[in-house]
Amino acid sequence: MLVLSASAANLERAAALLRRGGVVAFPTETVYGLGAVALDPEAVARVFEIKGRPRFDPLIVHAASLAEVEPLIAGLPERARAVAERFWPGPLTLVLRKSARIPDIVTAGLDTVAVRVPAHPVALELLRRVGMPLAAPSANLFGMASPTTAEHVRSQLGARIDALLDGGACAVGIESTVVLIPEQGPAVLLRPGGTPVEELEPLLGPLERSTAAGQRPLAPGQLLRHYAPRTPLELCDWVIPPARGERAGLIAFTPQQVTDGFAAVEVLSETGNLREAATRLFAAMHRLDALGLERIVATRVPASGLGLAINDRLERAARQTSETLA
Ligand code: TXA
Ligand code: MG
Repeated sequence: MLVLSASAANLERAAALLRRGGVVAFPTETVYGLGAVALDPEAVARVFEIKGRPRFDPLIVHAASLAEVEPLIAGLPERARAVAERFWPGPLTLVLRKSARIPDIVTAGLDTVAVRVPAHPVALELLRRVGMPLAAPSANLFGMASPTTAEHVRSQLGARIDALLDGGACAVGIESTVVLIPEQGPAVLLRPGGTPVEELEPLLGPLERSTAAGQRPLAPGQLLRHYAPRTPLELCDWVIPPARGERAGLIAFTPQQVTDGFAAVEVLSETGNLREAATRLFAAMHRLDALGLERIVATRVPASGLGLAINDRLERAARQTSETLA
């Protein structure tokens, strides 16, 4: 695998690999993506294989601008245009009716497609040079914590991919917010993420939640256990120190929550800032996971702004494997 710095020459190399059906990991403002040309079903099939991702879980299609998204969809409801114009490029994915250009493998046979314009100069320049949209899930193995640095990608996917563009650490650090916007009826929050719900609702109206208990999730990727480190993770509101001799790690929101007795501690924000906490969350999981601990304890964060997305990822990481694919 080629690890490429984001020079103009390397971007051109990566774009050429993609145009020939290659699979290239690239940085976005949220997390690293594992990209293939969305119009090339064989290249997209390789993405599913490399990740070990089930074929029923559709991918997000990335484009360089709203104008380049339009041929991929069958219509753009007025309120969808309003949020696209307001939040793109940015950490917002819209699920809209797809056009015939999108191969079925990308959408897992659904008649909708997830689309977004990422706000990262490397991603945008790559999309422009490829001249075609890129289907890209997060560049991690299926079910594992998402990568927010090139090193996370290299250690999980290493030799399986053609190239990795290194764009440094991701500024948002948590995946995009995914919203289904039907032609009629309320918009549906499929996944909380980097664009706070509070900023979307003034334009979209109150969002319906897709994950009501017992309901089949509308985003097929919202398997209960996901975004998970290998070490068992426990989510709590108050930290209980580990038993003597137990090697446990702690992911604390602020320094005030840190108690003695943990073998390793990750503080997500010194000042209780949720944006900072989001940028640090996955890196903290990756670091603790590498230590071979018996257990990781994490604390919930306030459930406003990016806190909704952070708690969602922590809750999924905490679920037991047996609950997966229920
Ligand atoms: O920030 C992000 O969104 C990152 C970067 C790389 O763009 N990508 C990402 O992709 O998180 P992925 O594949 O890990 O998550 C995509 C989510 C999944 O939950 C999937 O089920 C959902 O979007 N999704 C994709 N297409 C859909 C569709 N047509 N209908 C409903 N949900 C869809
Ligand atoms: Mg993912």
